[in-house]
Amino acid sequence: GTSGTGRSEGTRVDEYEMTVPSDQNDGASSGGLLSLEVLAILYKGGEAAEQEARLLGTVENQLGLRPWLESEGHEFIVTDDKEGPDSLFQKHIVDAEVLITTPFHPGYLTRDLIDKAKNLKICITAGVGSDHVDLNACVERKIQVLEVTGSNVVSVAEHVVMTILLLVRNFVPAHEMIERGDWQVSQIARQAFDLEGKVVGTIGCGRIGYRVLQRLMPFDCKELLYFDYADLPEHAAKAIKARRVADLKEMVSQCDIVTVNAPLHEGTRGLVNADLLKHFKKGAWLVNTARGAICDREAVAEAVKSGHLAGYGGDVWNVQPAPKDHPWRTMKNPLGGGNGMVPHYSGTTLDAQARYANGTRLILENYLTNKPQPPEHVIVGVGKYETKAYGQR
Ligand code: NAI
Repeated sequence: GTSGTGRSEGTRVDEYEMTVPSDQNDGASSGGLLSLEVLAILYKGGEAAEQEARLLGTVENQLGLRPWLESEGHEFIVTDDKEGPDSLFQKHIVDAEVLITTPFHPGYLTRDLIDKAKNLKICITAGVGSDHVDLNACVERKIQVLEVTGSNVVSVAEHVVMTILLLVRNFVPAHEMIERGDWQVSQIARQAFDLEGKVVGTIGCGRIGYRVLQRLMPFDCKELLYFDYADLPEHAAKAIKARRVADLKEMVSQCDIVTVNAPLHEGTRGLVNADLLKHFKKGAWLVNTARGAICDREAVAEAVKSGHLAGYGGDVWNVQPAPKDHPWRTMKNPLGGGNGMVPHYSGTTLDAQARYANGTRLILENYLTNKPQPPEHVIVGVGKYETKAYGQR
């Protein structure tokens, strides 16, 4: 699983010694003159990545960073091997100064690993969503956490709209029927509806949630609702005719379709659980491309199987890769439809990969040359949260 570990161990350690950061702990590097160790956890792209160079987020294509990093004299370790104490992630995190991860194949940077990561100064998420990093522990250790904010928000919003449509219109069973060689229109039409005239609500109305509602406007939904502790600016809410509902139970009880677009943090983990699902309308659809762990695995599977939810769709799972027997892979509603699950790829279209690879490089360049970072990219600055998106503090 590793690819190009660069120089020999001995050289690396020797060179690293020269880059031991100053005790000011201000997050700045030594100015780009000295070498540092950059560790990246990416997913294996295999044949596809060899054939398609734009699959930048893979171990093969390495976010396009290797030629540049090596020309600057830095060591770049790239691996997909991320689970367990013998993994290359756990081995190399001990010395790395920079960690690059993606939400798609998350290297889970737990508090335990942070304790071992004696040189770590900055974590960069190539993408959006840094919940796989223990942010509170990073605050305490003064490790910065940045993500490429905005890099894939349209990619995800488009996927949400697609998933809403395919659930509401009962697309997946219809296509499966065609592949099987069958033709029984009534079997499909008995659970196919129009999006027009439905009430759609988003949990979280930041960059993605807002873009979802914006993209739904031409469908003439009955109402667009949002639940978020941050109010939309008045002009933004007006532009999409969205109404804020202050109570989550009240919002979901009014929705035909609920979409989840909030980050995963202490306040959203397990937020959509059996209790909240009771407040959903019978036959509602739920779409979650935010994070799997925001929705309770068993409660959602039960709700789909019983038909309380007509369907559930999205691309995010509580553990990734999802185990083969994960109930969300195969759950169906009583009429045999209602499953819109795919692997985590909504935010990793080739268009998105170009943007987050560029953004990752920009963040690295700023770090190496001691320049300020774009403020919207900073999740945890040196010793404190710089965003309100990961919980109210
Ligand atoms: P954002 O920071 O622009 O917006 C997040 C919004 O959620 C903010 O308005 C915040 O106030 C709100 N929020 C936070 N906690 C909340 C709570 N308890 N209840 C209601 N609202 C709450 O972030 P953006 O760009 O919209 O992304 C949102 C999330 O989507 C990311 O954190 C990530 O987990 C996920 N994502 C998934 C991708 C995929 O490929 N499936 C790709 C990109 C992001």
